[in-house]
Amino acid sequence: MFSQKAAKIPPFYVMEVLERAREMERSGRDIIHFEVGEPDFPTAPHICEAAYSAIRAGETKYTHSMGLPQLRQAIADYYNRKFNIELNPEQVIVTSGTSPALLLLFMGLLNEGDEVIMSNPYYAGYPNFVEYLGGRPVYVYTREDEGFSLTPDAVARAFTPKTRAVLLNSPSNPTGHVMSPGTIRALAEIAGSVPIISDEIYQGLVYKGEDHTILEYTDNAFVLNGFSKLYAMTGWRLGYLIAPPEYMRVLQNLQQHFFICANSFTQHAGIAALEGPQEHVKEMVATYDERRKYIIERLKKIGFGIASEPVGAYYVLANAKEFSNDSLELSRRLLEEAGVAVTPGIDFGDGAQGYLRFSYANSIEKIREGLDRVDNLLNK
Ligand SMILES: Cc1ncc(COP(=O)(O)O)c(C=O)c1O
Repeated sequence: MFSQKAAKIPPFYVMEVLERAREMERSGRDIIHFEVGEPDFPTAPHICEAAYSAIRAGETKYTHSMGLPQLRQAIADYYNRKFNIELNPEQVIVTSGTSPALLLLFMGLLNEGDEVIMSNPYYAGYPNFVEYLGGRPVYVYTREDEGFSLTPDAVARAFTPKTRAVLLNSPSNPTGHVMSPGTIRALAEIAGSVPIISDEIYQGLVYKGEDHTILEYTDNAFVLNGFSKLYAMTGWRLGYLIAPPEYMRVLQNLQQHFFICANSFTQHAGIAALEGPQEHVKEMVATYDERRKYIIERLKKIGFGIASEPVGAYYVLANAKEFSNDSLELSRRLLEEAGVAVTPGIDFGDGAQGYLRFSYANSIEKIREGLDRVDNLLNK
């Protein structure tokens, strides 16, 4: 028998869609992918080269549990340069992806019954991390006509004496929403002595307006970030957690026992990503933006609702209620009948039921072909 905690974890539908899509591909069907949340670009050659050299140089042992000093420095330099702040590398802990950083953080923060305020729709993993570790997610529902933005008043109303943290994710998965500086500032003020957790993994993937970090507004914050999205390094498994100095020792103890350290040669690749040329990042961002404009236009023409233009990450959470209120059933139909894989909104909470998440991390030709198929199935 499994533990009760494990048995309560629901499937991650996007993985189910992907697995079914791959099975159909193996039997000869041509599938267009809008479900996967990972860049379609390869990792830049100079980043790969840094890993090859590290392996050749024998850098294949455990590193310091907090990460290579040069990488921690490069991460602090990146934040300091970009946001004009004063982050100390001692506040950075390098992890094997942002997901382990989330686990580490919630292990370090939560006591039984502690509440974590988060938006609904949310990134699918969040409530599972919180509940698994004995906490309780408290949802603040966001509205399509407000661009799925968290409103400070609604967050203020969700506070109770048990509130342990407020979790933000901007740019957001699944909505593509980017929080305004005014909203981030207001949320930091409302939170006061309660820490804010800011998942900034889509930072840099912003197509209108400016990028921000929570650290510009408060020091009482934890930042999660990584290399998966901006540097197209999903499979490398490299991320990091930034925390206030007083938490570092406890986080280090947890890291030493549960993870030991992040991959050694991957960390060398991370240094190359942050300190090397950035032209490839600019090109990827420009390409995502072209696709973003195209997909929004087409989805609207097909009949999906997009009340407010998503300007970050590479997702559109499209209102599909014109076609069905059951996003799981609709995504199954699109896959089986049209060979188009999309993620059902229900993966991201009941606030996204009746929505489909389209990822535009795919070529414009594939996006066109996929949307032609969607149009044919739903409208003709
Ligand atoms: C919002 C958000 N946070 C965290 C992650 C996990 O990323 P990683 O590959 O660094 O574990 C993802 C991945 O899709 C994500 O969308």
